[in-house]
Amino acid sequence: MGEVLMSAPAAVAREAHAGISLQVRDLRVVYDGFAAVDGVSFEMAPGESFGIVGESGSGKSTVLRALCGLTPRTGGQVQATGGGAVPAPGSRDWRRQVQMVFQDPYGSLHPRQTVDRILAEPLAIHRIGGAEQRIQRALDDVGLGDGFRFRYPHQLSGGQRQRVAIARALILQPRLLLLDEPTSALDASVQAEVLNLLEALRTRHGLSFLMVSHDLAVVTHLCPRLMVMQRGRVVETLLSADLAAHRVQTDYTRALMQAASGFQRPVRRTSSV
Ligand SMILES: Nc1ncnc2c1ncn2[C@@H]1O[C@H](COP(=O)(O)OP(=O)(O)O)[C@@H](O)[C@H]1O
Ligand SMILES: [Mg+2]
Repeated sequence: MGEVLMSAPAAVAREAHAGISLQVRDLRVVYDGFAAVDGVSFEMAPGESFGIVGESGSGKSTVLRALCGLTPRTGGQVQATGGGAVPAPGSRDWRRQVQMVFQDPYGSLHPRQTVDRILAEPLAIHRIGGAEQRIQRALDDVGLGDGFRFRYPHQLSGGQRQRVAIARALILQPRLLLLDEPTSALDASVQAEVLNLLEALRTRHGLSFLMVSHDLAVVTHLCPRLMVMQRGRVVETLLSADLAAHRVQTDYTRALMQAASGFQRPVRRTSSV
């Protein structure tokens, strides 16, 4: 794959980025005898944004970490399908095509590396050439120009840092982004900007999103469909429209909605949703 990318970056840029669909069956992750994720199943269509909500400790991050290979799976099956060559879960290509964006842009960017170095690193790991061009394109993609290239994380605002973290994920031309509370550390106005950027990038590149948030307003803004987790299990899967209209099936989801004081807060800034 690296060779192909190096010889024809422009052609790859045009044809890459078809979102993949995901089928997850009975996913299980056990830490020292404790089942953090206990039989989770869901499906995502290519190019879909699918949300995961639930109280803290319900296993949301563990689902994402198990999918991208940061945490070993104890059981269950993960399958991906889609156009072109779909990588086998856990393979090297999978680790390129499935990228994670974390909540905390302070912790996830190395403080002593410039933006340039941060963006060059994944390319080096995956032996992908054309770094110069790719770094410039990734910075443009997230609305940061070349002027940010040689800055350090402490010279950036929280929102700019999260844009760098998104650029670092995008630079590998992934097909699925796993977003773990991607805007929770940001101020409300910046949060809306970053959410709108994510949505624009998803459309532009045909990405699939799997997004975790404890904030129902954020998740329903980006994801038309979502699942609700509690203690490592799925309690229900529903449409965001149904959630917004209070058409929910379980008391747990109802309680989650009542607890979510932010649910009524408008985060929409565009007319596209
Ligand atoms: N590396 C780990 N070792 C042991 N337990 C963990 C580890 N990571 C998470 N857990 C536990 O697994 C459960 C689910 O955690 P997590 O997936 O982070 O939840 P959420 O993202 O929904 O807040 C929690 O009880 C947490 O304490
Ligand atoms: Mg979490």
